[in-house]
Amino acid sequence: MPSIRVVNFSKHFGKVKAVDNVTFEVEDGEFVALLGPSGCGKTTTLLTLAGIYKPTSGEIYFGDQLVNDVPPKYRNVGMVFQNYASIHT
Ligand SMILES: Nc1ncnc2c1ncn2[C@@H]1O[C@H](COP(=O)(O)OP(=O)(O)OP(=O)(O)O)[C@@H](O)[C@H]1O
Ligand SMILES: [Mg+2]
Repeated sequence: MPSIRVVNFSKHFGKVKAVDNVTFEVEDGEFVALLGPSGCGKTTTLLTLAGIYKPTSGEIYFGDQLVNDVPPKYRNVGMVFQNYASIHT
């Protein structure tokens, strides 16, 4: 697997800043958890890594590849949802 790089990533839903300028990197083989209070943007970040959301601004890289516009089926990313019926929690 390539590394994952999230650079100055923001995702806004109208006036709601679900994620506001986040930068982090995950190396190949690292096991990383996003930890934070309810509503801080963890799920929104994961959905964007999976390609379900596009960033409002910023860049997502898998290795050297900018994947902002790569659809989910071409990302080779698995995601297990928090709830079966809703992606909004
Ligand atoms: N599709 C959406 N439309 C509008 N607002 C949204 C949407 N998805 C998330 N939000 C809002 O964005 C913010 C971040 O939500 P998100 O679900 O990413 O948080 P979270 O860290 O996963 O929270 P939790 O720990 O409760 O799962 C919240 O204020 C949420 O209400
Ligand atoms: Mg969540």
